[in-house]
Amino acid sequence: MKPALRDLVIADLDNVLSIEQRVHAHPWTRGNFLDALKSDYVCQVYEAQGKMLGYAVLMPAVDEVHLLNISIGAEYQRQGMGSALLDEMLNVARDLNVQRVILEVRPSNMAALGLYRKAGFSELAVRRGYYPAANGREDAIVMECRL
Ligand SMILES: CC(C)(COP(=O)(O)OP(=O)(O)OC[C@H]1O[C@@H](n2cnc3c(N)ncnc32)[C@H](O)[C@@H]1OP(=O)(O)O)[C@@H](O)C(=O)NCCC(=O)NCCS
Repeated sequence: MKPALRDLVIADLDNVLSIEQRVHAHPWTRGNFLDALKSDYVCQVYEAQGKMLGYAVLMPAVDEVHLLNISIGAEYQRQGMGSALLDEMLNVARDLNVQRVILEVRPSNMAALGLYRKAGFSELAVRRGYYPAANGREDAIVMECRL
């Protein structure tokens, strides 16, 4: 069956966190996801046949949305799922009638950079020392996708 989006709910958080902690060097905490849910961000699970393949979080702003998190479970990576989930999230953004999607990404995250470039994102700016990193701080590349 084709994977589909559904709303992420609090009962998903154990599964979400087990993916999050495995695939991110600097994972979100349960509190980060709870804040996103409380703030009415668009929190979506991507699943097929009851299996969670991944999830994504969008923060709507006035005329743009920020993609705050997109993750695919380790065993489902490199099978086109990230691209498919990102396409779905771009469609969610289009339905919100915004002009563009913005995100920040670590320059060391080659998988995410490849994913975003392939989907049509381009680099806008660099935020110096934006992220905590093992040896101090790491820059963020700001990317945008015009819708
Ligand atoms: C980034 C991520 C979502 C990609 O998901 P995925 O399902 O593996 O991606 P896809 O199979 O759809 O690949 C899409 C493109 O991404 C790039 N890519 C994906 N994994 C890659 C890797 N390990 N190395 C280099 N490029 C990679 C490639 O450009 C790929 O296109 P190609 O297959 O034509 O080469 C996944 O690696 C992930 O969950 N990473 C951890 C979480 C994360 O860093 N999220 C982004 C920041 S919040």
